[in-house]
Amino acid sequence: MEKTLILVKPDGVQRGLIGEIIGRFERRGLKLVGMKFIQMTPELAGEHYGVHRERPFYKSLVEYITSGPVVAMAWEGNNAVAAARATMGATKPVEAAPGTIRGDLGMEIGRNLVHGSDSPENGVNEVNLFFRPEELVTWSRATDSWIIE
Ligand code: RTP
Ligand code: MG
Repeated sequence: MEKTLILVKPDGVQRGLIGEIIGRFERRGLKLVGMKFIQMTPELAGEHYGVHRERPFYKSLVEYITSGPVVAMAWEGNNAVAAARATMGATKPVEAAPGTIRGDLGMEIGRNLVHGSDSPENGVNEVNLFFRPEELVTWSRATDSWIIE
């Protein structure tokens, strides 16, 4: 089953939006298989955002993601990556559609509340970066047959 790493970024935590953000993925029908509340280290941030290392915004991005605790989650489902990114909305909150997390709750790209993996391959890699295998939970959800045909 496809997996995606979702982070509630430090602004989401500080603004008291953890429940609001998690609830949207939960109601969508994605299945939670891992969750932890952590302070990301600069080392973990560097690994997670390594692809952006040469970008002008890299330093502020690492400062942002390490500026306070985050909620790291692994969510599972058919097309979990695309479904989660649709629920998150566009990277720039001013361009994100109403009804999405960023479109409803955000104003600026550097305070865009959530991270979601951008491909199934990166979903696997990012979940493995944040979670050891034994931290992921295999469970059967009572509502599965009402969400998955
Ligand atoms: P994310 O990785 O956080 O899920 O966001 P994304 O795929 O929609 O966007 P991405 O291009 O991967 O950028 C990662 C994060 O870097 C910050 N950013 N700032 N100031 C800027 O121009 C800029 N561009 C990107 C955002 O926090 C973005 O989510
Ligand atoms: Mg990205």
